[in-house]
Amino acid sequence: MSGNLRRVAVMPGTGIGPEVTAQAVRVLEWFATRRTVPIDIAHPPSGPSAYATLGTPMPDSTLEALRNADAILFGAAGGPEIDAMPPAMREAGGLRRLRKEFDMFANLRPVVARAATIDSSTLKREVIDGVDMIIVRELTGGLYFGTPRGIETLPDGRRRGINTQVYTTDEVERVARVAFELARGRSGRLTSIDKANVMESGVMWREEVERLHRAEFSDITLNHLYVDNAAMQIVRDPRQFDVIVTDNLFGDILSDCAAMITGSLGMLPSASFSARAADGRRRALFEPVHGSAPDIAGKGIANPVGAILSAGLALRHAIGTAADADLLDRAVNDALSRVRTADIRQPDRTVVSTTGMGDAVLAALDRLNGS
Ligand code: IPM
Ligand code: MN
Repeated sequence: MSGNLRRVAVMPGTGIGPEVTAQAVRVLEWFATRRTVPIDIAHPPSGPSAYATLGTPMPDSTLEALRNADAILFGAAGGPEIDAMPPAMREAGGLRRLRKEFDMFANLRPVVARAATIDSSTLKREVIDGVDMIIVRELTGGLYFGTPRGIETLPDGRRRGINTQVYTTDEVERVARVAFELARGRSGRLTSIDKANVMESGVMWREEVERLHRAEFSDITLNHLYVDNAAMQIVRDPRQFDVIVTDNLFGDILSDCAAMITGSLGMLPSASFSARAADGRRRALFEPVHGSAPDIAGKGIANPVGAILSAGLALRHAIGTAADADLLDRAVNDALSRVRTADIRQPDRTVVSTTGMGDAVLAALDRLNGS
């Protein structure tokens, strides 16, 4: 049944990336053996270790393996190992390159207040109880890729740093369409976030979202917020949001902010998608929202839940079934009701290591699967 086989390519990255990704891989292996999900997991060489042995952080064969994968499982990028590589190599092996190369423009970041961890948040229970929203972040445009960019030295010796916020109508339309469609499958509400009171790119963003709304999605309730107000609303009353769509930079910032609803940045998963090709296939990358956290790397204390839930998004959207993803979701809740990593520690729960949390999720999967 190799025609049915789902290919997963693992790119653990740096910092805490390898530690948390290892737990996500254990979870996928569990699904392959215990629920016969037809997954083939490959570990093509990448990152600083590939640079050390092969002279490049992204060998052509790895790029090909990633291109052919149904799901790329990514850990985290950044930190001293990356900084030690020459700039061209950093760019060549980097996450931003991969997002761009595969045109994975739609980044989904679900933010759910779980009953098990509701007291781990710094926000009050009555504010976050029931939050279930999803941030759709544009991922291949805007300030992250706009040109001109760089640092130049002026004739008088001062230096000038430049970045460009730029969007075209098609870039706005395709990410807005993803968000409208998501909203249609949920509560039918979409909030689009921009800075149209100051930025022309924001004016155009808003007009384009409205045009698409009128043309194809008039059944959806659409509203717009300026990003500064949105940041405030996310901590004031997050339940007002269902689906949010916003640009690359604002999505980066607002998703870290919203993460605290879940108690820790370590809890947040994400999925990035390209458009579907004619054969129905699309590039898909799954990664926790947290970064490489060099300060705690190698200590075995990082929270792998964001990585494990990213594997859950992979099961749901690329390599398994909704039933598989739902089972994993329940197993994570079960594990969190028993043990905690240090970032979400609670007096009446045992604090476990990164691997310990992986163990707890696997044990919960066994229990819930009735085996
Ligand atoms: C994220 C990260 C990345 C980003 C960094 C590591 C480049 O913060 O995925 O949110 O800013 O996109
Ligand atoms: Mn970020």
